[in-house]
Amino acid sequence: MNEVLQTLLSHRSIRAYQNKPVEADRLEQIVKAVQAAPNWVNLQHTSIIVVRNQERREKFAELCGGQRHIAQAPVFLVFCADFYRTWLACKGRDQEFDSVVSQIDNLIVGANEVGIALGTAVAAAESFGLGTVPIGDIRFHALAVIRELELPRYVVPMLGLCVGYPAEEPGQKPRLPKEAVCFEEKYHPDLSGLLKQYDGQYATYLWERPRNSRIGDWTEMAADFYRAPYCHYPEVPEMLAQQGFLSLE
Ligand SMILES: Cc1cc2nc3c(=O)[nH]c(=O)nc-3n(C[C@H](O)[C@H](O)[C@H](O)COP(=O)(O)O)c2cc1C
Repeated sequence: MNEVLQTLLSHRSIRAYQNKPVEADRLEQIVKAVQAAPNWVNLQHTSIIVVRNQERREKFAELCGGQRHIAQAPVFLVFCADFYRTWLACKGRDQEFDSVVSQIDNLIVGANEVGIALGTAVAAAESFGLGTVPIGDIRFHALAVIRELELPRYVVPMLGLCVGYPAEEPGQKPRLPKEAVCFEEKYHPDLSGLLKQYDGQYATYLWERPRNSRIGDWTEMAADFYRAPYCHYPEVPEMLAQQGFLSLE
């Protein structure tokens, strides 16, 4: 197996970090790797805000629902879908932009690019022996996050990423069987047997893992998570409207 695959296949999220800074050149290499990734029409719709200041990381930990690892990791990256630069290009040519950026596909474009960027950053960081954990809860208080980062219109905070040297070995979470996520030629919807098989494996994992050991399985977790009425990040529609990505009229 080559080193790239070894890094990718060893992934686990890290939520406890050593009191040790991330070297500047390593962070620079991570950002370079993100910039080298594929993106939509080379329009490069992603920005990263690097947050290192301890007080500000404490603040973001609070804004993200009290996630202590954000305050503990020496670096917190905020990945934004960013159409501000495209707006500047259009404005320079007197082109109207709001009716363009608010088309729903642009959210898919922004989410795609941030996903690719964050995945690339995780792989690059892990190749240096650093640990990471993505933070979707950056959208929990999205309006305050925008104020804190002074994000202009057309920029949306999508995901955070803690980066630092691991102070734990949480082990790997088992994944769904390959046959449940990768299909030959056509989708095969009869997944009940595979999910049952995975539930058994997941129940053992949940019970035996070193932290947060509990009784449960994967389908129970999924059903609990998506129990109606579901509204995980209530500020998101208002935030998207404020930033120009959604017309609430
Ligand atoms: C988009 C996204 C958002 C996430 N948000 C959080 C978060 O807010 N807090 C957290 O502790 N983990 C978060 N995670 C980490 C996942 O819980 C984790 O990747 C998943 O349980 C699989 O575990 P593993 O990464 O250790 O394999 C997030 C992951 C992704 C991809």
